Amino acid sequence: MEIKTQKKTRLMPVAAAEGASWEDLVNTPEIQEAARVLREGGLVAFPTETVYGLGANGLDSAAVAGIFAAKGRPADNPLILHIADAEALVQIAPEVPPLARRLGQAFWPGPLTMVLPKGPAVPYVTTGGLDTVAVRMPAHPVALALLSAAGVPVAAPSANISGRPSPTEAAHVAADLAGKVDIILDGGPTSVGVESTVLDCTGPVPVILRPGGVSKEALEEILGEVKLDPHVQGGNEVEGPVRSPGMKYRHYAPKAPAVLIRGEPPELFQQVTALAQKLEAQGETVGLLVSKEMLEYWRREGVDQSRWQIAVMGSRTDAAEVAASIYRGLRELDGTNATQIILEGISTAGVGLAVMNRLQKAAGNRVIDV
Ligand code: TXA
Ligand code: MG
Repeated sequence: MEIKTQKKTRLMPVAAAEGASWEDLVNTPEIQEAARVLREGGLVAFPTETVYGLGANGLDSAAVAGIFAAKGRPADNPLILHIADAEALVQIAPEVPPLARRLGQAFWPGPLTMVLPKGPAVPYVTTGGLDTVAVRMPAHPVALALLSAAGVPVAAPSANISGRPSPTEAAHVAADLAGKVDIILDGGPTSVGVESTVLDCTGPVPVILRPGGVSKEALEEILGEVKLDPHVQGGNEVEGPVRSPGMKYRHYAPKAPAVLIRGEPPELFQQVTALAQKLEAQGETVGLLVSKEMLEYWRREGVDQSRWQIAVMGSRTDAAEVAASIYRGLRELDGTNATQIILEGISTAGVGLAVMNRLQKAAGNRVIDV
């Protein structure tokens, strides 16, 4: 007989006034209590500027094992260690190449994760058996206050059940992990909305293993040359070893099957509309994640959308706004009775590359180019 232990999850709002610094928060009872729970081996979900993370003491194997259990995450998918201070690198990644130092100065705190050679203090449970370790310093006052108060590097994947869209609000975390974590710190909706850029810094030329909040263009400004791992755009059929284990798993997936349509308006809008009408005629309940420009197109053209389930992701000309909305949109569609989902693609410029990577994964690599 399997005995499942339920945790009593406490949801704690952290009142971060607009512009509050982490120093303002570090002595609040919520942060102090969450830090204590982390040091004692518990699980604390917390906001970062990208998505909510599910944290545990990253140097404590048993605590880290609890993360994998709570998420249902495969053991070979390594975790990111979060730190509040670059000094903490000495302990977890003693050999930091000069280019990584420059990147840290340019982008930390912020949505950049660097993969570096692992120091002996980091257990293999955290790195999924790898001799490298992923590290980032998040740019969120609640995260920095928590990390600083805990005084240990905090391993934290996104705080969702494995395979589900990442959480950008505390309510998303509660929906997936209530009963499985000790504390959820509520810091409001996250600002970036897609995860950090994962950059392999162990070779002569850094390689983007996962596009994210720091764009390829921004990295190129500092480094000159940056490579993009072929799995980022090609999906799982690409030959060769998967360098970021997370890339091989189905991700960000809504419950209903989804298809991503890529192209430029007006053809893009025409094709999305035609497919929605065709699926509806076949008796499907259609869900759509679309831009506000698509809504305007439907209004102009008098398209009957009354039977469609629609989530809006902002303006397709503003990739940052879209990035901040896609996971909420996917979860919104999950809350409907949609049986088929259509996702509108945007440009891959800037953070659009991360958006399109996530949408393509949400669609299980079903992509139509128009
Ligand atoms: O924005 C983020 O990065 C969020 C917040 C909470 O910080 N975290 C996050 O973690 O997205 P997670 O576990 O959902 O994704 C981490 C990714 C996975 O694709 C994993 O395979 C990769 O980073 N990764 C971690 N350690 C690695 C390593 N040593 N080598 C290569 N890839 C690694
Ligand atoms: Mg994740």
